[in-house]
Amino acid sequence: MVTDSKPRLREATQEVAGRFFIFAGLLFFLQVIFGLAGAMYFLWPNLPVPLNFNIIRMLHINALIIWLLAGFMGATYYLLKEEAGGRLYSERLAKWNLWLFCIGTFLIVAGYLYMGLSGNYSLFFSEGREYIEAPRWADIYLVAVFGLFLFNTLMTIYKHTQRDAITGLLAVGLIALAFFYLFGMKFFKNMSLDFYFWWWVVHLWVEGCWELIAASLYALLAIRLFGFPRQRAIKYLYIEAGLVVFTGILGMGHHYYWIGTPQYWLLLGGFFSALEPVPLFIMVLDSLRLAIKDRRLNHPNLLAQYWLVGSVIIHFLGAGLWGFAQTLPQVNRWTHGTQFTAAHGHIAFFGAYAMLIIACAYYALPRWRFGGDSFDQRRGFYSFLLMVVGVMGMTIALSCAGIIQVFMERLWGLPFLRVQGYMSFFYLMRFVFGLLTVTGVGLFFFDLLMPKARTNMEGS
Ligand code: HEM
Ligand code: HEM
Ligand SMILES: [Fe+2]
Repeated sequence: MVTDSKPRLREATQEVAGRFFIFAGLLFFLQVIFGLAGAMYFLWPNLPVPLNFNIIRMLHINALIIWLLAGFMGATYYLLKEEAGGRLYSERLAKWNLWLFCIGTFLIVAGYLYMGLSGNYSLFFSEGREYIEAPRWADIYLVAVFGLFLFNTLMTIYKHTQRDAITGLLAVGLIALAFFYLFGMKFFKNMSLDFYFWWWVVHLWVEGCWELIAASLYALLAIRLFGFPRQRAIKYLYIEAGLVVFTGILGMGHHYYWIGTPQYWLLLGGFFSALEPVPLFIMVLDSLRLAIKDRRLNHPNLLAQYWLVGSVIIHFLGAGLWGFAQTLPQVNRWTHGTQFTAAHGHIAFFGAYAMLIIACAYYALPRWRFGGDSFDQRRGFYSFLLMVVGVMGMTIALSCAGIIQVFMERLWGLPFLRVQGYMSFFYLMRFVFGLLTVTGVGLFFFDLLMPKARTNMEGS
């Protein structure tokens, strides 16, 4: 039985995992730059920008998916290696995994850029399905790279860890991630059918298998940062994971309301997705209760603790609250595909996955660079503040824009473009808060590249 609450090997070299975080940080930075460019389009559509909005948007959301995957890989390698007493099944495979992933991403992005700049739209460069626009050859390449990652991590779990529910759940989540990607690789001529399976990729990911991965990463970090007892973490994990699978799979029916599927999806999707906030809420309660009441809060890496707790809270707000607000078919009928949806998309992705990966990165950073937990955290705190205020500000701005849109366009029937005019103040706010976000992400990336050791001047 594993009872210790401390990672077993502090000096383990963690170069590969660290580089995954750097790669993720770079893509994150590019993602938000493209986001900002997209936001500018809403305000000044005639600016001489070399790329059209569709390409900028595609780069923005595909970069998001890829950097989150890279972040999951880095976090998994880092934490698993600690769990495994400093051993990976194969360091060499991990290095290959990193470089092949970087090369693949570079080729995909180069293809998107070429397509955007030349106007030569072709299936060779993109298959044009939101979030997973990579062309078919890249799909196959990515599956192979992910296969490599899966092999290496599963073998590490099998050979070198004590294999409990936490690593088990992580393994299930990662296998499911790879498995569901395959459904995005089949075309159906029937649009309804095509959409039906397309939702299985990103949305069964975010509401199902990524939630499992997130739950195990939360547990691994909480054990380390808050001295959370392992057996209790496992108990909560069972409850949360059971509920997430139960609500997440059928809850995804909220995407089937209006795409030509049978009517029973209105009932199924509405009912189960309305329950989705429950496990998320349990997660917030557990973590906060244990972090605040029971356990030590004096871990030297306060910054990673902030990102972790922040992630749990914003995960709940973004997925639970903003998701719930539009998930009943009676409401979704009016809010579907408005800026309110975009508000939810931003806050949910940010809180649930971006912040969690940043928490893992900040947990790893001082250990990887300085061999201990203490480092100069000031830059990281500025970045925390800027990103959280930035994304919350954008979310509130987009929610206001969405409410205007629902009333004026959907309920009163005013023309689309006229209503967009009424929303422009909030588009400006999105841009302003976007600037804060970009600055925060820039600081985070800079910190990853060049963290500062702790000076004597600093308090603890
Ligand atoms: C971390 C988990 C989640 C993430 C990252 C996420 C992200 C997103 C994104 C990006 C979209 C826009 C999809 C598109 O049309 O392109 C979306 C739509 C939606 N989400 Fe979530 N979501 C999450 C969890 C939830 C939960 C728990 C609920 C329900 C309680 C929910 C309810 C909805 C609904 C109803 C829509 C459809 C909006 C529409 O009518 O277009 N989401 N989500
Ligand atoms: C500088 C900050 C950012 C700006 C200015 C920005 C801007 C934008 C813009 C203009 C769009 C296209 C919206 C549309 O088609 O109407 C978009 C979509 C999206 N962005 Fe961002 N973004 C930023 C940061 C982020 C972050 C940090 C995340 C997640 C972690 C994110 C996730 C998304 C998602 C999921 C969509 C698709 C939403 C949907 O289809 O409903 N963005 N963003
Ligand atoms: Fe969903």
